[in-house]
Amino acid sequence: MPVDRETSNSSKNPSIDEVISTRLSRRSLLGGGVGAAALVGVGALSACVPETPAGPGATSTTASPTTVAPAGPLLGFDSVAASTADRIVVADGYVAEVILPWGQPILSGGPAWKADGSNTAAEQAQQIGFNHDGIHYFPLNAEEGNRKGVLALNHEYTDATQIYAAAPSPVTAEHVAKALAAHGVSIVQVELRNNKWRLVDSPYNRRITGSTPMTMSGPVTAAHPKVASSFPIEGTLNNCGNGATPWGTYLTAEENWNQYFGTEDAAYVVPAEAARYGVPKNNSLKWHQANQRFDLAVNPNEINRFGWIVEIDPFDPQSTPVKRTALGRYKHEGAAFAESAGVAVLYSGDDENAEYLYKFVGNAPWRDLRAASKSPLDEGDLYVAKFNDDGTGEWLPLIHGVGPLTVANGWADQAEICIRTRAAADAVGATKMHRPEWVAVSPIDGTVFCTLTNGSGNVSAANPRTANPYGSIMSWKEAGGDFRSLTFAWDVFAFCGDPAYPALTSAPGDIVGDLYGSPDGIAVDAEGRIFIQTDISNSSQNLASKGYDNIGNNQMLIADPFTRETRRFFVGPRGCEITGVTMTPDSQTLFINVQHPGEATPAFGTPTNANPRAVSNWPDYDPNGRPRSATVVIRKIGGGSIGS
Ligand code: FEO
Ligand code: CA
Ligand code: CA
Ligand code: CA
Repeated sequence: MPVDRETSNSSKNPSIDEVISTRLSRRSLLGGGVGAAALVGVGALSACVPETPAGPGATSTTASPTTVAPAGPLLGFDSVAASTADRIVVADGYVAEVILPWGQPILSGGPAWKADGSNTAAEQAQQIGFNHDGIHYFPLNAEEGNRKGVLALNHEYTDATQIYAAAPSPVTAEHVAKALAAHGVSIVQVELRNNKWRLVDSPYNRRITGSTPMTMSGPVTAAHPKVASSFPIEGTLNNCGNGATPWGTYLTAEENWNQYFGTEDAAYVVPAEAARYGVPKNNSLKWHQANQRFDLAVNPNEINRFGWIVEIDPFDPQSTPVKRTALGRYKHEGAAFAESAGVAVLYSGDDENAEYLYKFVGNAPWRDLRAASKSPLDEGDLYVAKFNDDGTGEWLPLIHGVGPLTVANGWADQAEICIRTRAAADAVGATKMHRPEWVAVSPIDGTVFCTLTNGSGNVSAANPRTANPYGSIMSWKEAGGDFRSLTFAWDVFAFCGDPAYPALTSAPGDIVGDLYGSPDGIAVDAEGRIFIQTDISNSSQNLASKGYDNIGNNQMLIADPFTRETRRFFVGPRGCEITGVTMTPDSQTLFINVQHPGEATPAFGTPTNANPRAVSNWPDYDPNGRPRSATVVIRKIGGGSIGS
């Protein structure tokens, strides 16, 4: 897939692997091991107890600390074996059912999905999108919220071998329109009826696509000279991870948006500030050949309309999604909400090698801001993380006039910082991370977790590591247990990996329990269980040459934060990743997504438009069909919290 994973960061800022290496070498001198270190950040540091958030959107993934006591053994299931089968596997005692496959009409009278890829763009716009990613369950009301709710789910990118009946050569306007219609967000009501979850007709059911009208709010508005264009502001693209607010809105993150733009204009030069985001002069999708909106030379400001967090009201189908520019512009993986003293705090990673981890802190309690008709996501300050090798960390302000971000240094105003967020973070000396993906906040003790999915390593004299193909999970606690704090204490919850391949990485894996690598989605439930989802690239998945043959297909594991024990709970079909995690308020129904089943991988094959089933035919197994991303609903037989 045309996903940009190469670094475009040429700054001299320190890398997280230098910081970790230095800290670990100091710690080994003091007699502490990696395992001992990992427990410090999770179990040993104390936290204050801020107020609990409330509201229609509050769930386990958007909570504040409420208690410190573990209730007892957290993991009550037997782990499942690694699997390379083209099917889903869930722990014994659980049932896993497929809903919302790509192409299902969002209303019962909508156009039926065609298994040969021949649905038109107009039909796709009335169907569930492609490549499901982040997801959030909004309970419909207090009485029935455990069996009636609205799901919002992201659709990250499209695969030309799957969405078209024939290869798109040349790319036409209809090809681009269908791909745009398959991106974005689906909002659908779901209900548990006759012991089965299903999509139901509802006025909330709605598609938001790469063509839906949008607005922009915060320091950067549609009138900004770097955004203004004769083309209307529309669309959200590469919708990866997500978030949700306690005021009941959905947040969708625009990740690898740079890949959609290009030009055939030989005279066009990619500006430096666009190159910092990996905007190519040309790309494999070729949308610009059929739609001038994506032609860099014709419509140069269109790129500045992407790379944002977009806020959507799932309960107002007439509402226009808003790009919240105060949160910064980069390749947002997701948006994890936390709250202290009523103030909204939002964490988000920039998923590219050597990029940064950010935090937005509101400047007043969110209820007060909303009462004054202001958005809590417009009113606040942006920070970027610096990890020190003594285990401390700082949130460095990306605020106009503070530090190097002055007019004299070329920063005109806060809007400039929001548009060129990566460069602002370069200037203040943030720590380069190894592809920061999802962030999750524990409601038990306020520990914040961030998956660093993997990285190519940043070799230096201080850092002899050559590669980091398995990734790690960072953890930290904000000073005083206050998410608004500008200092923190960090640790590593787990170095992922397979000890059978020590030569592949100089940081040996220290997982307690079942092996995994390339962690991506992460969430913490109300009792503290950590849900870890993997996205091993299909260039590595199941391959011995990449150290991934013992780990199997992408999967979801559940970890106990106190013992660090990790058990494999679910395994997906071939070629997929597992991503997106949300629950009903009673923690008894879990929704996750299987994204890109059947994608090309050297382990199993290369699909084509003529044979889209070369790798997978999940979930339909129709001999004339094709693989489909879908949501999987998991429940414990006989009832109970997932994982208990
Ligand atoms: Fe879309 Fe970083 O995963
Ligand atoms: Ca992801
Ligand atoms: Ca992915
Ligand atoms: Ca990923």
